[in-house]
Amino acid sequence: MCGIVGYIGHREAYPIILKGLKRLEYRGYDSAGIALYDGNDIKLSKTKGKVDDLEARVAKEINTEGTLGIGHTRWATHGVPNDVNSHPHYSNSGELVIIHNGIIENYEPLKQELETRGYVFKSDTDTEVLVNLIEDIKKNEDIMLGKAVQIALNQVVGAYAIAVFDRSKPNEIVVARLGSPLAIGIGEDEFFIASDASPFIEYTNNAIYLEDEEMAVVRRGKDVKIRKIPDDSLVDSYVQELQLNLEQIEKGGYPHFMLKEIYEQPHAIGDTFRGRLLPEEAIIKMSGVEDNMKKFLNANRIIIIACGTSWHAGLVAEYIFEDLARIQVEVDYASEFRYRNPVITENDVVIAISQSGETADTLAAIKLAKSRGAFVFGVCNVVGSSIARETDAGAYTHAGPEIGVASTKAFTTQITILTLIALRMARAKGTISSSDFRHHMIELEMIPEKVEIALKSDALVSQIADIYKNAKNFLYLGRGYNFPVALEGALKLKEISYIHAEGYPAAEMKHGPIALIDENMPTVVIATKKGHYDKIVSNIQEIKSRSGVIIAIVTKGDVTVKELADHVIEVPETLECLAPLLTTIPLQLLSYHIAVLLGKNVDQPRNLAKSVTVE
Ligand code: AGP
Ligand code: GLU
Repeated sequence: MCGIVGYIGHREAYPIILKGLKRLEYRGYDSAGIALYDGNDIKLSKTKGKVDDLEARVAKEINTEGTLGIGHTRWATHGVPNDVNSHPHYSNSGELVIIHNGIIENYEPLKQELETRGYVFKSDTDTEVLVNLIEDIKKNEDIMLGKAVQIALNQVVGAYAIAVFDRSKPNEIVVARLGSPLAIGIGEDEFFIASDASPFIEYTNNAIYLEDEEMAVVRRGKDVKIRKIPDDSLVDSYVQELQLNLEQIEKGGYPHFMLKEIYEQPHAIGDTFRGRLLPEEAIIKMSGVEDNMKKFLNANRIIIIACGTSWHAGLVAEYIFEDLARIQVEVDYASEFRYRNPVITENDVVIAISQSGETADTLAAIKLAKSRGAFVFGVCNVVGSSIARETDAGAYTHAGPEIGVASTKAFTTQITILTLIALRMARAKGTISSSDFRHHMIELEMIPEKVEIALKSDALVSQIADIYKNAKNFLYLGRGYNFPVALEGALKLKEISYIHAEGYPAAEMKHGPIALIDENMPTVVIATKKGHYDKIVSNIQEIKSRSGVIIAIVTKGDVTVKELADHVIEVPETLECLAPLLTTIPLQLLSYHIAVLLGKNVDQPRNLAKSVTVE
């Protein structure tokens, strides 16, 4: 999710907040806004677009005096990017104003309840519901803003970093966090609030980083008191003295966006299934699917269209849908689909996958499918993107902005969404037992922590990368669910290190590619325990007998492959259909480290763009 900045102190707030929002630009966003208090009134200006657009709008709309203010850059999750849905949001009375990073999953029931009490909503966002819930509690219980925020957040399911202030109490800003970052910069008789330290590092090195389920009332001239949201207990605030510089902070302390995004995957996957995967209630809830369940259940087949890494996610989905939901699936490169005069009928469900939501070939393929009567469902990471608007329905991956050109967290969150859909269909069709359904849900819910474990192989992978960084060619092999991961691993290496790499189904080796094997050809083999394990061990032996070098991705504790391979990288055990979410991690890290060791521009590789909006 995007960025928040706030200031309360003795200086003019506007220049500090505006520069702070520009410092957060690296986080990617679709709109921006600011609210200032000038001693008498709140002045608010917000716009779809960039911080520069906001600056131009502020210059025309409001005077910028005031020593209290909050600013926001938005990465929309609910409500398309436009002026009205931008933050900050007023409460109905105009007394409160809020900015929010994150997702309020249960905003719909909360909104319905508030509407019965006469609240009116101007925007489509979840955030406007939160600020009116706070107002409703504050008014009914006649309590201070901080207490009202605490009570409101105990009714909220989701993720948030918020800053909210009350026109009638302009000496304080209330902040809180769960799942989205929030730092408080401690200056000389002034306080800064931000998603990370980049907006205030030039003013102070002293900062408090809120932990999850913590909140604070930041008050002029007072010490910051941190409280636990669930029980209002006081927390000892720990003021850190930051040694970071600006460049490091923009990438969250990582050297490249790609590595930051690889490490964000546990969070991104958790954000993507939060509020949708409910094992305790044994349900999967996705409104875009529920509202069109008949179309999914009556479909003769599912056609998946996408490009690049998104196409690889689609290939994983083919295995999952056919295996679990017993429905025929066809996966097409969008660029081929749109030109080959495909057979499409109104009984087809088309799933279009795109991180950016702007890929020209995918957009054209969607339009073709719609023109022939198919129902098209989109899986995108950018709310309100062209593909999100063109498709008949959809589900957003909540991966947050993906800045690195090489797609990583988009891939794993796309697979997460597609797994949820396949499980939901399988349950509805009865092609999976209720116990298996629950088992899959519980295993999926454990994936973020298993990805954390897989990430611990980073140092080992870096050592392996150093050994093979000068190889001229790589082979990537996998079977079953791991075949698409082999393709994805090869693409990752190609696009950031410029080393030629090919992904292949392992069994295909004997139909030609094995002729390539010699001691100069590293072969990455995905050989996890589930699914054709014995066959893949045979493939490894075939390669070894031809002096091939094997880098194997294995299930933790594997001893058989360990005997055969030159290097093994372990991932935790999981269900066969969830293995791609883990086996892709070491392959992302391998391509990253090789590219860095070769001195390549990891985040902006040559010849590539983050979104291919041209044909
Ligand atoms: C993957 O690392 C590449 N950046 C590229 O293949 C990308 O997946 C492809 O261009 C599709 O982009 P999209 O998901 O935004 O449609
Ligand atoms: N969910 C909120 C919205 O869509 C906040 C999104 C963000 O983190 O920027 O407006």
